[in-house]
Order: sequence, then structure tokens, then C-alpha cells
Amino acid sequence: MQGPTPPCVSLSRQEFSLRAPSTARTLAMSSFLRWTVRLFAGLLLLFLLAAVSLYAASAYRLHQTYDVSVQNVPIPTDSAAIARGRHIAVTRGCGDCHGPRLGGSTAVSDPMIGSLHAPNLTPGGVGGTYSDADWIRAIRHGIAPNGSPLVFMPSFEYYYLSDEDLGALIAYLKQLPPIEKNMVAPKLGPMGRAMVVAGRGNFRLSAARIDHDAPRPTAPPRGPTAAYGEYLAYSCVGCHGSELTGGPISGAPPSWPPAANITPHADGIGAWTKADFFRAMRKQQRPDGSRIDPVMPADMGKLTDQELTALWKYLQTVTPRRSE
Ligand code: HEC
Ligand code: HEC
Repeated sequence: MQGPTPPCVSLSRQEFSLRAPSTARTLAMSSFLRWTVRLFAGLLLLFLLAAVSLYAASAYRLHQTYDVSVQNVPIPTDSAAIARGRHIAVTRGCGDCHGPRLGGSTAVSDPMIGSLHAPNLTPGGVGGTYSDADWIRAIRHGIAPNGSPLVFMPSFEYYYLSDEDLGALIAYLKQLPPIEKNMVAPKLGPMGRAMVVAGRGNFRLSAARIDHDAPRPTAPPRGPTAAYGEYLAYSCVGCHGSELTGGPISGAPPSWPPAANITPHADGIGAWTKADFFRAMRKQQRPDGSRIDPVMPADMGKLTDQELTALWKYLQTVTPRRSE
């Protein structure tokens, strides 16, 4: 039989030759898909693991308890001491976070950083249940009455307050008119937690950074001196940085401007006069007439002439540094 090749055979060959590359492509496609799925599953797993360990590591730090022996501080009750305490509360910035009447406020609200609700300090809030030792433990050591660390509360700055100033401050807080307002507990976002774990900037827990057993630093006598200015300048470092060169404020929402360089460098306030400094602090105005952003607490302009002179003198003595 020499007939033509049965059509079916040639067809099937043809079919085969047609199909072959496409089957290979399908196979390649499906293995590519499988690998992509595996890769994504792997990445997702890694991500979940990272999130869980970040959460666990931050929870460990946040729920650690600190048992410090709280040194007693005399709490006066006379009106002069209460007025002094009010001056300290205003000029040390308590109201910037806890609200103008200290009835509680949200200091930072950002999905990545977290919601840092500063509690109601009046007798209608935490003040209603606080003992004197609780006040000292929170403000000086950064530790809540249950022993857990405070997060955003800058106790590392208030650690330096003298017994006299801390006593006056507490005397003032205790007699605040009660405000009935409940603040929910602070809640950290992923970046806030990462900063707690890394111990970065303003999220480095005060309770961990303070040496609670070290001998107390002695506060300089009050007066228009550079030494007293340094004592006041502990309230500037949380925003302006430990070297006062400014830059982005850690833990601040993106809308906040960076803090200014306030060292006596050309990048900072090197060309300023004392009067320029007073105008900046009191009227939020730079020497060229431009406005200073309200993130710079206007309440710090309520420091007395003597205190601003002390700060000015101190700022003249810090190492002049360029802005980063
Ligand atoms: C930068 C913002 C900020 C400033 C300034 C600040 N606080 Fe706080 N404070 C907080 C936040 C937020 C909390 C809640 C706990 C946490 O996350 O740190 C807190 C917690 C506290 C607590 C503990 C309350 C509790 O839950 O038991 C006390 C007491 C307190 N602050 C007093 C003060 C006083 C007094 C001043 C001024 C000398 C002050 N704070 C300044 C943000 C601030
Ligand atoms: C809550 C954060 C915060 C604190 C606390 C703070 N500052 Fe500032 N300060 C800023 C920011 C932000 C700016 C920049 C504002 C702008 O860009 O308009 C600034 C600007 C200034 C300026 C103007 C400098 C310039 O060249 O524009 C002076 C002076 C200054 N701060 C002094 C101080 C002193 C002194 C203290 C402490 C007693 C202090 N600040 C505490 C945030 C802060």
C-alpha cells in the first residue's frame, strides 16, 4: 500500500509540533507562578514573623516592670510654692502635651507612630488616685504607679529638676481644678514600636535611660548664670537634640518642621544678639522678622527675664556646630 499518509497521522504530528512549544510555555508559566506564589508566601511569612517579633520585643519592653526606690521630696502647700509650681509646669512644657489645663490631650496621632494620649493630670484624672510617691515616680523616673515604663513622657528631662522645683510642681498639680475627662491609654503604631525596640530618640524609654540609683545631680542656685541656663536647657534637648543642633524631631508627625540649630554657629544663632533671642522666645519672631512655627512652644517665652538671660548665657557657651 503506497497510498498517501493517512491524514490523521500528519494531523496529529502537526498538532504535536504545534502544541509542543505552547505546552512548554504553559509548563514554564505554571512553574513561574508556583515560584512566585512560594516567594510571596515566604515573604509574607517573613513579614509576619518580623511583625510578631517586633510586637513581642516592644511588648516586652513596655510591660517590663521597674522597681525603683523613690526618694521622698517635700511637697509644700503654701501659695508661693504653688505659684512657682505653676511657672514650672508652664515653662517646662507640661501643657504642650497634657493640654493647656492639664486635663489630657493627644500629643501625637499618626498611623505609623501611634496615638500618644497624654493623660488628664487633674484630680478628675490620674491626679485623683496618685500618692506623692506616684507623682515623683512618674515625673522623675518615667514609671507609672504599676511599675511599667511611660513611653513619650520626657521624664529624662525632668529627672534633673531639683527637689525644690519638683516639690513645687507637684504641689501645683495636686491643687488643679478637677476636669472630668477620660483619656484612653497610648497606643503605638509599627514605627513607634520599632523605635521603642531600637531605643531611638524620644522613644528611648526614660525608665531605661535614667540611672535611678545614681546620686542625684545638684541643681545650680537660681540666677542669671550659664549654669542655671544649662539647668533650664534640659527642656530644649527633646526637640533641639542633645547638642542643640536641631534637625527632625524624633517621634514627631511629618507635619512638624525640624527644630532649629540653636548653637552659637552661623547655621544657628551665632549672629543673634540677646535682644534677638528674647524676641524669638517671647514673640516667636526671628531677627529677619519671619515667624517661628508654633511647634516651638510659645509658653517657654513665659520664662522670666532672669531665666531667659541664664539660657542665653548658657547657649553662648555650647560648642558651635553646623546643622547636620
Ligand atoms: C512630649 C509630651 C509630654 C510632655 C512635655 C509631658 N508629658 Fe507627661 N505624659 C505624656 C504622655 C504621652 C504620657 C502617657 C504615658 C506615655 O506614653 O508616656 C504622659 C504621662 C504622664 C504621667 C503619668 C500618668 C499615668 O498614666 O500614670 C504624669 C504624672 C505626667 N505625664 C506628668 C507630666 C508633667 C508634670 C509634665 C511637665 C513637667 C509632663 N508630664 C510633660 C507626654 C508628655
Ligand atoms: C516641642 C519641641 C521644642 C521644644 C521643647 C523647644 N523647641 Fe525651640 N524650636 C522648635 C522648632 C520646631 C523650631 C523651628 C521652628 C520653625 O522652623 O519655625 C524651634 C526654633 C527655636 C528658635 C528659633 C531659632 C531659629 O533660628 O529659627 C529658638 C531660639 C529656640 N527654638 C529656642 C528654644 C529653647 C531655648 C528651648 C528650651 C528652653 C526650646 N527652643 C525648646 C521646637 C522646640
